[in-house]
Amino acid sequence: MTDEIRRGLAGVVVDETAISKVNPETNSLLYRGYPVQELAETQPFEAVAHLLWHGELPTGDELAALRAEERRHRPLAPDVKAIVDLTSLGAHPMDEVRTAVSALGADDLAGTGTVLDASGSHDDNLARSVRLFAALPAIVAYGQRRRRGLGPVHPRDDLDYAANFLWMTFGEEADPVVVSAFERSMILYAEHSFNASTFTARVVASTLSDLYSAVTAAIGALKGPLHGGANEAVMHVLREIGTPDEVGPWLDRALAEKRRIMGFGHRVYKNGDSRVPTMKHALVALAEHVGRPDVLALSDALEREFVARKGIHPNLDYPSGPAYDLMGFDTATFTPLFAAARVTGWTAHILEQQAANALIRPLSAYVGPDERHVPGSAGG
Ligand code: SDX
Repeated sequence: MTDEIRRGLAGVVVDETAISKVNPETNSLLYRGYPVQELAETQPFEAVAHLLWHGELPTGDELAALRAEERRHRPLAPDVKAIVDLTSLGAHPMDEVRTAVSALGADDLAGTGTVLDASGSHDDNLARSVRLFAALPAIVAYGQRRRRGLGPVHPRDDLDYAANFLWMTFGEEADPVVVSAFERSMILYAEHSFNASTFTARVVASTLSDLYSAVTAAIGALKGPLHGGANEAVMHVLREIGTPDEVGPWLDRALAEKRRIMGFGHRVYKNGDSRVPTMKHALVALAEHVGRPDVLALSDALEREFVARKGIHPNLDYPSGPAYDLMGFDTATFTPLFAAARVTGWTAHILEQQAANALIRPLSAYVGPDERHVPGSAGG
């Protein structure tokens, strides 16, 4: 038994997965064998969700069936809306999303008996996965509208997932350029092997707890700025800098303060995140479409300067932040968008974990006081 400690499990292989392959040597990412760039450029997000859950791209009939099921679960359930309405407007939207998913779970699991029944069958959890995939857009969209003093927008069955998500958020039909950029971001965010939030979901699933408990735990992990919270943090950084000529002085101060520059660096990719070029392409298209070349000038300036100084490359959160801003999303909505996409990867991993389960329970090296006894006790 090795007693080498690998903090953060850096470089430690803890299990097998057939869902995705992150390869830093070739700077590539495969979802069930398909390069993510090809999926992002050719497939609807619903087809990618099917691929993650089932291991194959859907046939025409399978896609139609998934789209029908997704439409069935789109409307914001009254009890979920009530729970969101009870959440303080000051709460972070990720806490609101976690509360809403907990409410969905409590409702769905009501009456399912003892904890021994919690984990559910593969088919139960596949149905729950589709339900969360379908329900999160309404929860995230309503969260933003509520903070703006607006009511919910009812979903439209004539719109597919991405266009409907934007419709429910903004109450108007989005331009195809925006829909395409948004759908690309959801596909790129969907899955990334054993990242912190997905591994969190697998740990909870490994105890045979229920799918909703695993997803709410993952939401908590994703909220952190070292993980999913970085796309929101990128926007704060860019706003703090303001203009390209402020990049140098700002970096001087930030690096002197030993700050982590949000949107840069990655635990696995060390020469750049394979997803960035595809998302950057969508950001450029958006910036041209809405006439905001200044957004590119600023983000390019910071990337050039930081890479030149530290050799640390942008991750997916770096182009996604400004892209979501140009789409009109509030900054606080960015990480909930990440959660709405990643719920497909989380649930695929929960299904995989439960199909060949082993309780996840690592060891620790004790460095506390040697054995000692309470004065007067038998051992004292
Ligand atoms: C995501 O795992 C996934 O797959 C995650 C994700 C997914 O799809 O699920 O890809 C999504 O979470 C992307 C990452 C988003 N986070 C951020 O952008 C936050 C900023 N990034 C860093 O905090 C950092 O890069 C991490 C946390 C992402 C990764 O850090 P590691 O691998 O633990 O490396 P480290 O923290 O040990 O850093 C190594 C060195 C350190 O310098 P020294 O202390 O050794 O001198 O690089 C420096 C770090 O200070 N460094 C940075 C930096 N990232 C690393 N310095 C300044 N700014 C940064 N962003």
